[in-house]
Amino acid sequence: MTGRPRVVVTRRLPEAVEAALAERFDVERNLEDRPLTTEALRAALATADALLPTVTDRLSAEVFAAATGRCRVIANFGVGVNHIDLAAAARAGCLVTNTPDVLTDDTADLAILLMLAVLRGAGAGERRVRSGGWDGWGPTSDLGRRLTGKTLGVVGFGRIGQAVARRARAGFGMTVLAWSRRRPAAAALEGVTWVESLEALLPQVDVLSLHTPGGAETQHLLDAARLARLQRHAVLVNTARGDVVDEAALVAALEAGRLAGAGLDVYEREPAVHPGLLGRDDVVLLPHLGSATVESRSAMGMRALENLVAVFDGRTPPDRVG
Ligand code: DGY
Repeated sequence: MTGRPRVVVTRRLPEAVEAALAERFDVERNLEDRPLTTEALRAALATADALLPTVTDRLSAEVFAAATGRCRVIANFGVGVNHIDLAAAARAGCLVTNTPDVLTDDTADLAILLMLAVLRGAGAGERRVRSGGWDGWGPTSDLGRRLTGKTLGVVGFGRIGQAVARRARAGFGMTVLAWSRRRPAAAALEGVTWVESLEALLPQVDVLSLHTPGGAETQHLLDAARLARLQRHAVLVNTARGDVVDEAALVAALEAGRLAGAGLDVYEREPAVHPGLLGRDDVVLLPHLGSATVESRSAMGMRALENLVAVFDGRTPPDRVG
């Protein structure tokens, strides 16, 4: 290759990251900072040496069909890669990398925030204060439920699931049960009870927190039948991917009083939210904030940069996932 590699960056990134990228690459930025269309992604893939996309870019087989062999790597800004067709990327000769580790703590913090917010009615309370509808303290008003000492079920026991379990045990004295499609090493399970099936875990928990990757293998993992196995007082927290939960089935369970509440940071058809969730006081709805701190987003960008540099220096990128 002659000259500097051309990298298409699909969204605006923290300033320091953009500056560091520009030092090494010929960068094309998306100054509008809106998700790129399929056509724009196809054009980028055909003409760039690398792409730095985010969760808002759908890199489907249709997009990869435009590949010309020039694009060597898709360095995703984020840990989840369910928006990238990995098989199509491989066929097009593109490596795929992600940004693990650097967002683990912030995403785990947010899961705990959602647990507390749902159990303590923080969303509804905050809305009432703002709207002028609060008429003062009362001994029996606004009674939520305690998080401390409850039983937590963690579904998906990778880095983020484990970080949530650590917080729940150390900070809130919770009993933690865990289930994943793959059983982790014994060291990761210290202080945690491993449950052999999701079906067996569900009826035992007060709070269920989801931490699986998205994609075909986990789509609607929490469907109507599994939601029905939760106790009526249980609450569901999802900071993973929206389509892990059948959103319509979740709304039906909440409407029927078969579930006490939900804290959601991700949605099946993001940024659209099921209308049945919007008016409910037993749900707390956040706009995909899991990794949204200055610290995480900067570190994610630097990690994506490290992966790009490795590829163009002829090394194996540290975070190759496809
Ligand atoms: C991730 O890292 O996957 C977050 O959801 C943001 O993309």
